[in-house]
Amino acid sequence: MSFGKLVGSIDEGTTSARFMIFRAGTNNVVCYHQIPVPSIYPQEGWVEQDPMVVYDLVIECIEEAVKKLEKLGGSAKDIIAIGITNQRESTIIWDRATGKPLHNAIIWLDNRTSSTVDELVETIPNKSRNINYLKPLCGLPISPYFSALKMRWMKDHVGDVQRAMEANTCQVGTIDTWLIYKLTGGPDGGVHYTDVTNASRTMLMNIETLRWDPHLLRFFGLPAAMLPQIRSSAERYGDVTVGVLKGVPITSCLGDQQAALVGQQCLSHGLAKSTYGTGCFLLYNTGTSIVQSKHGLLTTVGYQLGPRAPITYALEGSVAIAGAAINWMKNNLELFDSVNQVEEMAGKVDSSLDVYFVPAFSGLYAPYWNQEARGAICGLSEETTSEHIVRATLEAICFQVRDILESMRKDCGIPMSKLMVDGGMTANNLFLQIQADLVGINVIRAKMQETTALGAALAAYMVVEPSFDITAPLVGSSGELSIFKPAIGNYERNMRYKKWKMAVERCMNWDT
Ligand code: G3P
Repeated sequence: MSFGKLVGSIDEGTTSARFMIFRAGTNNVVCYHQIPVPSIYPQEGWVEQDPMVVYDLVIECIEEAVKKLEKLGGSAKDIIAIGITNQRESTIIWDRATGKPLHNAIIWLDNRTSSTVDELVETIPNKSRNINYLKPLCGLPISPYFSALKMRWMKDHVGDVQRAMEANTCQVGTIDTWLIYKLTGGPDGGVHYTDVTNASRTMLMNIETLRWDPHLLRFFGLPAAMLPQIRSSAERYGDVTVGVLKGVPITSCLGDQQAALVGQQCLSHGLAKSTYGTGCFLLYNTGTSIVQSKHGLLTTVGYQLGPRAPITYALEGSVAIAGAAINWMKNNLELFDSVNQVEEMAGKVDSSLDVYFVPAFSGLYAPYWNQEARGAICGLSEETTSEHIVRATLEAICFQVRDILESMRKDCGIPMSKLMVDGGMTANNLFLQIQADLVGINVIRAKMQETTALGAALAAYMVVEPSFDITAPLVGSSGELSIFKPAIGNYERNMRYKKWKMAVERCMNWDT
């Protein structure tokens, strides 16, 4: 059977890697393969991954997906381009000559750089000690979340890294950069590139010029020579030199949340989406304007779909812990065996019985940016059961989204009228109903939930097929949009939100 032209998408997320094969220019998935990626926890609050394992798993996903394609009667020869989308901020450093990593990848969630943040904040002139000091340049607060802090930590604590930075014998990058480098040949001619979306999460790129900024590099004490070239999100970076896709061009690269913005076709000013994965990330397209948030949101690059295309910016509300809280209940509290049981369990009770869970495992991100916050479960009584706690966990994710929407309303002046959602957790109908109840607007689930991989595939296709219009309604859409409408009144919604804020207040600055 012929599927016509196909486009592949590597989606390297925090907890799993996958390769999806789409019919070119549509959201029809022909087949895919997905493998969990193991994290390493050397100390409390530290999260690492082995860069070679990440790369090997990506290759395995490609090979297995292609085998599935062949079983269906298709062929790898029909794959005309591939795109890459990835967990952002996670940082890898390797030897320029050998391509060997000098340290494990430090993952975005890792909190080891809390004291590095404090030390750097102390160096700010005029003793302003303001984490937002660099925001006018890079759009981000100084936080362990971003790559520059991870690079600085490696420089300060890993002898090999420090020597390599001084001798200019290393290269550094986020996961996209590592994958592009490895797939295009590694030390044998591999290119050293990143795209504007990933670069905008390092804290080293100037959000206006889209270049590495000398002031930011000086502030963090990092050398420019080790950094990749910044490219647009849709162009030909190089061809794959290994495995079943040898010769196929890599033609898109986007951080996973920005890829979901493209995959949801939020391609004009005022459109927004929320993706629920390990964390939850709400991005609001601000068009070509750089909107500096006064309420704890990030200013980030949304996408640049071609080297000469305009830059689209976004305001982002980042929540560190969403699906990760569900995994924590499964693995650490052993409240259920499979995440598929969550909807049924939470549905056994009508409410959380006034239990509030703040999953601030590694501090709180937007809008609080409190790296010393730690988690708490408040409001327990003799009547509380595991079902109430599971339901409170779903609510916690939804309250965090309300926190973000409140900031967006204050920054942009216009309340959002609907919320487009995607990601693994959105298969849970009860969760989306709770989300609609707690934010008071319609929540709309995308026709297909793999919008991250889709965004990278669409961007990759437009490079090899310039007549493809990425803004046009997608051909071959399968599935239906589902709309969840608020079913509780404003009074109840606001009372519950007030309690959530009280619970958050109790978690702040716990680890000081
Ligand atoms: O900023 C971190 C984000 O890119 C991780 O996404 O989907 O792995 O939770 P995800």
